[in-house]
Amino acid sequence: MSNPVGEIVKIGVIGGSGLYNMPEITDITQYTIDTPFGKPSDDITVGTLRGKRVAFVPRHGRGHVHSPATIPQRANIYALKTLGVRYCIAVNACGSLREDYAPGHIVVPDQLFDYTIGRRDRSFFEDGIVAHIGVAQPFDDDLREVVAHAVEIAGGTVHRSGTFIIEDGPRFATRAESNIFRQWGCDIIGMTTVPEAFLAREAEMAYASMAHITDYDVWHEEPVSVEMVTNTFSRNIRLAQEALAYTVEHVEEDHTTASHTALDGAIMTAREHIPQ
Ligand code: ADE
Repeated sequence: MSNPVGEIVKIGVIGGSGLYNMPEITDITQYTIDTPFGKPSDDITVGTLRGKRVAFVPRHGRGHVHSPATIPQRANIYALKTLGVRYCIAVNACGSLREDYAPGHIVVPDQLFDYTIGRRDRSFFEDGIVAHIGVAQPFDDDLREVVAHAVEIAGGTVHRSGTFIIEDGPRFATRAESNIFRQWGCDIIGMTTVPEAFLAREAEMAYASMAHITDYDVWHEEPVSVEMVTNTFSRNIRLAQEALAYTVEHVEEDHTTASHTALDGAIMTAREHIPQ
């Protein structure tokens, strides 16, 4: 698919619960984009942030209309890829599974545990093309470093690593599940980073998450509620926007990392069967 907006935009931002726009972006154009995987969660906003061109899509749609398991994740990543996105910063709300990762803190996870057991479209490769993408390090380490530094500069408390477990939702966990996730060594919990991170890797984008802790899930005294998530996130919104803007400003958008060659050697299907 050719570039639908007539310019190359190398930095993408996917907003999560509580982050539906980026007020500092100027020269805005909204694009309604269609992809072979359907329409993205919402129109894509393309504009300028601190001198860089960026593309923004709110994962749940403005008005929060897409439930975690039915977010059009392939369409979101595909649309960003067709614009030219090489670096993708994902913003997430998450629960904490450990005492010292407190609500209001931000985690830049380095590991992902896929506990989504329902049906999600997990790969771009189908119809006779088989690819086994490497995701031992599911997040891009170079981008993680920029995001973590940005959170510090913005005055936030950052944890530079953590294992992010992704459950199906839309319900929150039971106390038994939450305690078992803790025993497994998981640090934070969310509902949307799978398959988003894996699709970004298939699309050879550098991808990292800025995960905002909004609650202690359900293992702590007071179980998580929607109100808890939205209240904590809204207290952190200025920090989130500042950290994002700093990340965009400092990402070296032409720099190549291991994520950008992820498909090298990943495709099993004999070359003569791949449409050129
Ligand atoms: N998003 C924010 N808090 C969460 C939690 N406790 N579980 C899953 N997703 C979340």
